[in-house]
Amino acid sequence: MKENIKLTRFSSGAGWACKLSPEDLSQVLRNLNNTNTDNIQIDFSSFDDAAAFNIDKTTILQTVDFFTPIVDDPYDFGRIAAANSLSDIYAMGGEPKFALNIVAFPSDDLSMDILTEILRGGVDVANKAGIPILGGHSIKDKEPKYGLVVTGIPNGIPIKNSTANIGDSLILTKPLGLGIISTAIKKEIATEKMINDAVKIMTTLNKTASEIMNEVGVNACTDITGYGLLGHLLEMCKGSGTSAHIEFNKIDFIDGSIECASNGVIPGGTKRNYDFVKKFIDFSENLNQTKKYLLADAQTSGGLLISVSNSKYNKLNDMLLASNCSSMKIGEIKKLEENNKYITVKWISEKYSYKL
Ligand code: CO
Ligand code: CO
Ligand code: CO
Repeated sequence: MKENIKLTRFSSGAGWACKLSPEDLSQVLRNLNNTNTDNIQIDFSSFDDAAAFNIDKTTILQTVDFFTPIVDDPYDFGRIAAANSLSDIYAMGGEPKFALNIVAFPSDDLSMDILTEILRGGVDVANKAGIPILGGHSIKDKEPKYGLVVTGIPNGIPIKNSTANIGDSLILTKPLGLGIISTAIKKEIATEKMINDAVKIMTTLNKTASEIMNEVGVNACTDITGYGLLGHLLEMCKGSGTSAHIEFNKIDFIDGSIECASNGVIPGGTKRNYDFVKKFIDFSENLNQTKKYLLADAQTSGGLLISVSNSKYNKLNDMLLASNCSSMKIGEIKKLEENNKYITVKWISEKYSYKL
């Protein structure tokens, strides 16, 4: 049990960095044709976080997520993967009801005790979310992988990512930089504090933020995961037919991530994210490449990105802060100009200039 296994050694890409690029994926999805479409409310074509399907008069939400180890501790890996899988339901303002495990494990190379720890992490987080794990499926695989299929129900109408309104404030509920820290962990250059901070953020459920968002009433929401802030914000703006103006200096990054990025510790997935989104973005001239990568960083179990009308912003902000969630107002939603620049990024403050 206490053999010192470094789980990330078994993973070729750090967490979300193992995700297929949005370009490759849309190429494949183009050829997918459902013929039984009667009860579909939301499917993959809208780039929303979870599917929504009507059974009789009830709408159910369903989502699946799994990935390779992004930390070395198996229990923490299990907790992070489960929190990440639940997040898509929370992003739709939904309430998870039950889950199933998805497991890939190198049982010839690793002790089954490690798998026990991974699954224990998963069930502990499910318990926190108030749901049971009912079963699952496991296969033998050189690379460990873990995640959940989660079924839930919306709170009224599911909150989509494509319904942001001009004039809305954009709120982010967790700091960025998680992909960079995961890469630092794999490279064995992350400090104990960097690991602890990242694990704490990644195991924090978006449950409270989601409940608050439901209570206040918001226009659109998505969670920040593999495609990074810029990728998920781009989906929100494209879907809504709007643009977003954000400020780099309004965004918090977890301790150590800026230094790591400056030293070139940047996940492959983050670079691919940046390459995919850059043509849609108007970066102010003083933003260097490191800052651009920081904004495109592939997150695992990141926060919610909420688009809320200005009249409700104060209430949302106050409630999030009172519940110990981060609440960063990173910018606002504006009219889309002819040039199809869906995102404008400004950098005003000198806050980080001594480091970059
Ligand atoms: Co999502
Ligand atoms: Co997902
Ligand atoms: Co099976």
